[in-house]
Amino acid sequence: MINIKKVKENVVSAIIGQNIYWYPKLESTNDLAMDLARKGAPEGTIIGADYQVKGKGRLNRTWFSPAGENLLLSVILRPSRSIEISQKIVLAVSGIIICSLNDYIEEHEKGKVSFEVKWPNDILFDGKKIAGILTQSILTGKKIEALVVGIGININTPLKKFPDELKNKATSLSQILGGVNVDIDDILIHLINNLEKKYIKLERTNYSGVVDEWKKNCRSIGADIVIESPKTGKIKAVFEDVAEDGFLIYRINTNDKRKLVSGSLDYL
Ligand code: BTN
Repeated sequence: MINIKKVKENVVSAIIGQNIYWYPKLESTNDLAMDLARKGAPEGTIIGADYQVKGKGRLNRTWFSPAGENLLLSVILRPSRSIEISQKIVLAVSGIIICSLNDYIEEHEKGKVSFEVKWPNDILFDGKKIAGILTQSILTGKKIEALVVGIGININTPLKKFPDELKNKATSLSQILGGVNVDIDDILIHLINNLEKKYIKLERTNYSGVVDEWKKNCRSIGADIVIESPKTGKIKAVFEDVAEDGFLIYRINTNDKRKLVSGSLDYL
C-alpha cells in the first residue's frame, strides 16, 4: 500500500496531488477519476490503486498488473483548451514518466538506464514496455472540461509473473535494475513533482517544444513499421516523423505521406 503521508510530505506542489485518493482495489482508476471529474473534482486530483480488477489499456486492451507491485494512477487535469491539446499532453507525460524513472535511478546510483518512447505514449526499455498512458476526456463541444491521464508503470513485477504473451514485450523497473525491490512511493513522489513542474510550464509556454522534446526520447524515426488502425487496417509503412500536433506521419510510397491520428504501431 502506498504511504500517502510520506508522499504528501515529499511533494512540492500547488496543483498535482493536492487531493490523493488511494484504494487497495478498484475496477479502474480511470473509471473512478472520470466519475469524480464529472462531479467537479478539482484539477490535480489523483486516484490510485494497488490493484485494478479491470485495468484498461489503449485500444480496448487490458492492463496487466498484479496487486501491490506497480504504480497505477489517474490524474485529473483541467486545461482550458480544446481537445487537440490532449495529444501534446500525452506526449509530454511520457517524457515526464521517463524523467521520474531517471530521477529515482540517479538518486539510488543505479547507473545510466536509457528509456525510449514509442508513439504515441509507450515507454520502453530495450524494446520492452515499462509504462503506458491512457487518456480520457470530458468535453463541451471541443473544449476540455477534464482530461483524465491514466498512468501505469511496471515497478516490481518480476519477468516470470508476466503472462506468456507479455514475457517478450513487457518489463519492470525492478527487472531492469537486476531484481532489486523498488520503493513505489519514491517513484510516485518524483512523478507528482515532475508533473507539477512540467504542467505549469506547458500551460505557461502554450505547449511549445513538446514534440521536439518527445523526439529526443524516440529512436525509431525512419524505421520500418506496421501500423494498425480502424481506418487503415494493418499496413507496412515507414515512420517518417511526428507532426507539430503530435500525430504520426508515415509513408507508404516515396511520395505518399499520411497522418495517423489514432492507432498502434509495431516495429518490423
Ligand atoms: C496502454 O499502454 O495501453 C495504456 C495503459 C494505461 C494503464 C493505466 S493503469 C492506471 C490507469 N487506469 C486504467 O484502467 N488504465 C490506466
